[in-house]
Amino acid sequence: MRALLLVILGLAVGAMGATFALSALRQGTPFHSGVMAVMQHHMGALRANVRAKQCDAKGNASHLARMRETAGDIRDAFPEMEASFFQVDDTLLTALDGAVAAAPTTCEALVAALKPVGDACQSCHQQFR
Ligand code: HEC
Repeated sequence: MRALLLVILGLAVGAMGATFALSALRQGTPFHSGVMAVMQHHMGALRANVRAKQCDAKGNASHLARMRETAGDIRDAFPEMEASFFQVDDTLLTALDGAVAAAPTTCEALVAALKPVGDACQSCHQQFR
C-alpha cells in the first residue's frame, strides 16, 4: 500500500514538473532579445578571432553576413519605437553593409570594418536601452 502511494506521488510530482517545463518552453525568448543575442554572438565571435589573431576571410564574411541579416530584423523586433531609433538602426545597417562589402581578409581590416558597427550598437544602447 505504502509503495503504491509512493508511486502515485511520484507520478503526480513528475506530471507537475512536466507542466512547469512545458509552460517555460511556451513563454520562450522574446524576439527582440533573440535578435540582439544573435548579433552579440557574431560580434563576439569576430572579436575573439581578432584576439586569437585568426581572421580568415571566410569566417569574417560569414559572421558579418549573419550579423547583417539579423540586423535586418531589428525593425520587426522593435515595432513601437520612435523615429530616432530607426535612424540609429539605419546607421547600423549602413555600417554592416560597408563591413560586408569591405570583405576583410586580415585582422586589421576586420577591426576597421567592425569599428562603425560597434559604434552604432553603442550609440543605440546609450539612447534607448
Ligand atoms: C537601433 C537600436 C539598437 C541597435 C543599433 C543595437 N541595439 Fe542592442 N539593444 C537595443 C535595445 C533597445 C535593447 C534593450 C532590449 C530590451 O531588453 O528590451 C538592446 C539590447 C541588447 C542586448 C541585450 C539583450 C537581452 O535582452 O538580453 C545585446 C546583447 C545587444 N543589444 C547587442 C547588440 C549588438 C551586438 C548590436 C550591434 C551589432 C546592437 N545590439 C545594436 C537597441 C539596439
